[in-house]
Amino acid sequence: MKVLVVGAGAREHALAHKIAASERVEAVYAAPGNAGTARVGTNLDVAADDVPGIVRVARELGVGLVVVGPEGPLVAGVVDALRAVGIPTFGPTRAAARLEGSKAFSKDFMKHHGIPTAAYGVFDDAEAAKAWVRELGRPMVVKADGLAAGKGVVVAATVEESLAAIDAIMLERAHGDAGRRVVVEERLEGPEISFHVVCDGTRAIPLAAAQDHKRLLDGDEGPNTGGMGAYSPPPMVDPTLEGSIMDRVVLPTLEGMAEDDCPFTGVLFVGLMLVDGQPRVLEYNVRFGDPETEVLMARLASDVVPLLLGSARGDLEGVELTWGAPAALCVVMASEGYPGSYPKGRPIHGIEAANALPGVSVFEAGTRAEGDATVTSGGRVLCVTASGGDVHEAAERAYAGVRAIDFEGAHHRGDIGWQAR
Ligand SMILES: Nc1ncnc2c1ncn2[C@@H]1O[C@H](COP(=O)(O)OP(=O)(O)O)[C@@H](O)[C@H]1O
Ligand SMILES: [Mg+2]
Repeated sequence: MKVLVVGAGAREHALAHKIAASERVEAVYAAPGNAGTARVGTNLDVAADDVPGIVRVARELGVGLVVVGPEGPLVAGVVDALRAVGIPTFGPTRAAARLEGSKAFSKDFMKHHGIPTAAYGVFDDAEAAKAWVRELGRPMVVKADGLAAGKGVVVAATVEESLAAIDAIMLERAHGDAGRRVVVEERLEGPEISFHVVCDGTRAIPLAAAQDHKRLLDGDEGPNTGGMGAYSPPPMVDPTLEGSIMDRVVLPTLEGMAEDDCPFTGVLFVGLMLVDGQPRVLEYNVRFGDPETEVLMARLASDVVPLLLGSARGDLEGVELTWGAPAALCVVMASEGYPGSYPKGRPIHGIEAANALPGVSVFEAGTRAEGDATVTSGGRVLCVTASGGDVHEAAERAYAGVRAIDFEGAHHRGDIGWQAR
């Protein structure tokens, strides 16, 4: 079977790498991919959000499975378009992707179906939103309704900051039309975890829990980023908690979506905060987390293709996963200046040497081939991933990988996995 992976990050490289290892797969393609996906397959010159272009190449190549990485094309309906021409596609339909595409939709959905989440209000009008915050007199979390590339949420420390966030999102349109509507919600406190389940509309197969590190600097300081590293498993997740996440969050979500006529297929990545040890949903994502996927793929022993294909076809019956490495950890190496503006085209040395180290796989994010060289082409450049017997060993291996790699201006966090080390 030929498989097409849509997207261009380290998440897509990790998926393509794992898919290429399947006995059932003869060729892997990536649209548009990066220098890493080109090492395991063939890159196609089609943008991830070019829905007609994706459909065209998938038909031309006769692919038997399309796996969609990023949320943009899912919200735009790429799964509907591919399934309409008979191509099994891993991901949710456009209607089901609203769980991520609209935070107001997801909050109303959770309220309606009794899924634990922070108390909230939805506003189309900035004055009404601000009046509510003033009336409460507490700092609130303000969220742009639509997709904002992970930058649309302000966790305010004061009432004034909450009011300013409403102005920035709704009036100044800091995130464009994503800020036409806002969700204003209660601020929760507690550790955050990521929980991924692969779904076929009614069934859900849980993947291992993971935790990412959004802040730029050690000690969880500095600005937010797309994610500077991740590890699995987080120590605060035990089988009891996993059971309660499945019973109180995942299964009611699947039942609710089916009841509302948009059954959920693909991967549901639930962002949770543990409040007094109990899970509350911060948000739904309708695709694999990045960098969580890198550590999940590093730990997974089973062939991933039956899982992806079963979900795409709406039938996960009989699919069982086995986990290999007890732990995995990844460290993101970023460009100088990231998460602000950054230079491109800087030569990267040592990827092969790092890949040769025990347990290490370098998944590439912002990389491009230039002749025989690999050069930087994005903010997050590499995701150096390692498996191990425990988080401590995985960390030592991943950091050995980081030390083997060099490009001008490279920076990374030194404390990924600190909660478990
Ligand atoms: N109700 C909340 N209370 C406290 N922190 C929150 C709350 N909602 C979100 N956050 C913080 O903001 C981050 C981003 O919010 P999230 O809803 O995950 O949006 P997105 O990932 O789309 O930016 C979360 O990872 C969490 O750290
Ligand atoms: Mg989030």
